[in-house]
Parts: sequence; C-alpha cells; structure tokens
Amino acid sequence: MAITFKLNGKSQSVDVSPEMPLLWVLRDTLNMTGTKFGCGMALCGACTVHINGEATRSCVTPVSSVAGKSVTTIEGLSPDASHPLQQAWIEEDVPQCGYCQSGQIMSAAALLAKKPKPTDADIDDAMQGNICRCGTYQRIRKAIHRAADSHAGAAKEKAATR
Ligand code: FES
Ligand code: FES
Repeated sequence: MAITFKLNGKSQSVDVSPEMPLLWVLRDTLNMTGTKFGCGMALCGACTVHINGEATRSCVTPVSSVAGKSVTTIEGLSPDASHPLQQAWIEEDVPQCGYCQSGQIMSAAALLAKKPKPTDADIDDAMQGNICRCGTYQRIRKAIHRAADSHAGAAKEKAATR
C-alpha cells in the first residue's frame, strides 16, 4: 500500500512495507543518502530528521507513522547550504570524518527553530543524543552560537531596512 508524506516540501509516495524504518526508505528507496545509519537503535543520532519540525531518529520510525506528515532531511534544510547552521559549520570547520554531522545539524536546526538564542545548557540538552566519535562537540557548540548570532544579526538588519 502506498504511503504518502511530504518530503522536503514535496509530496512523496512510497510503496513499501509499513514497518520499514523511515531511514531505510530515505536511503534505499529514495536514494537520499545525506541521512546516515549509525546504530539503528536510537542511540547515536546519525539518522536524525525532522518530522513536523521535531528532531526524530528515523532508524526507529516506521514509515507508516509519517503518513500525511512533513519530513525534512539535511537535503531539504536549504537548497544551497545557505542555512545559518550550515554556514556556521563551514566557518567553524566543525566536521572531522563527517559521518555524524548531518544528524548533528538537524538536531541543532530543531533547537534553533524553538530557541533562537540557546544557552550552553540548552545546547547540551538538545544535542546529548547525537554522538560524535571524532569529538567535535566544542566546535558544534561554537557553531550553534555563531548561527544563532548570525540569525539575530540578519533579523536586525532586515528590521533596520524596513
Ligand atoms: S542510526 Fe538512528 S540513532 Fe543511530
Ligand atoms: S565528525 Fe566523525 S563522528 Fe562526528
């Protein structure tokens, strides 16, 4: 039976087993490999996507549960890597091997959408389920603060030119 949901703003139908994890559907059925497989048990965060704006582990999310919902992956965060977090990630040179990073960015994006000016404690809280074996945690924190600042700066600029 076809399952239909919104993927990165466009309607998407897939004809797969309803129990299939969303991660499998994204990577194997739809060839969208930006979202990574790490543990498959909701323990590492590599597979994080947004479902109706909430950071969610797609490895333990049956695809049937996203029917009619809106899914955003790293590919849909911005069309050209212009999201403030992607820019901050480049400026702070965050990734090492890179494997965990799309999940890290998706968790950070969900945080900033809710808390545009997060504290260190907010960041630690939101990011604690995202494991980085390369230990890039300090740069991740710095990049989230940088993105929050650039976002606030851009909003101020916009207001000033009105
Ligand atoms: S692959 Fe989903 S949390 Fe590790
Ligand atoms: S950058 Fe290598 S696991 Fe995070």
